[in-house]
Amino acid sequence: MRPLYIAPSILSADFGRLADEVRAVDAAGADWIHLDVMDGHFVPNLTFGPAIVRAIRGASARFFDVHLMITDPDTYAPQFRDAGADGITVHVESGPHLHRSLQVVRSTGARVGVSLNPHTPLSTIEHVLDDVDLVLLMTVNPGFGGQAYIPAMTNKIRALRTMIEGRGLDVDIQVDGGIQSGTVLEAASAGANVFVAGSAVFKKPDYEIAIRSLREGAQAARTSGKSGGA
Ligand code: DX5
Ligand code: ZN
Repeated sequence: MRPLYIAPSILSADFGRLADEVRAVDAAGADWIHLDVMDGHFVPNLTFGPAIVRAIRGASARFFDVHLMITDPDTYAPQFRDAGADGITVHVESGPHLHRSLQVVRSTGARVGVSLNPHTPLSTIEHVLDDVDLVLLMTVNPGFGGQAYIPAMTNKIRALRTMIEGRGLDVDIQVDGGIQSGTVLEAASAGANVFVAGSAVFKKPDYEIAIRSLREGAQAARTSGKSGGA
């Protein structure tokens, strides 16, 4: 079974105290720090660029998981790597040359992720699955925190797990959007092992309790025998 990672998304953090917020979730037990980059074109929202990633890099030694929701990942991925990204995820829907974009990320030395919007079929990554370390399944439409998990995504997680195992690959399945105490069980049972959580961590009074409860829920669901993971 692949390791389980809880990745708080700083999209729901207090941006006025961003470095402190990163320190706080690090101390509270976060495995990865999830950084949502939005350009106002690919998604109807704007967040931050490489300068902010660089500014908060010193606040934590945890894995910096950069999720690019932008139309030009080839231009910006190297800049995010220079700023301190450990992993960089690009969307299938970002442009016409996904294989090239993934090669650009690979060439930076970062861990390579590919992400699919909720409506995008798994067949779109069939021919790049050998080239990635992680697949991020969006469980909401990207752009905003605090949305509800789309139930139809559970079968998609299961199908991806089957696809990865069928090919004997070593690839993480990350879920992002609407992950909280109930949906984390569903996603973990279906085979996800990396759980992004924005509001379920940063909107809670105690980050440590929030992270622990997500981790315990995911662990229990994975070991209950329902897990699609091997
Ligand atoms: C949405 C982002 C998510 C977001 C999740 O486009 O990719 O990472 O922060 O927020 P919650 O966990 O609140 O749904
Ligand atoms: Zn994200």
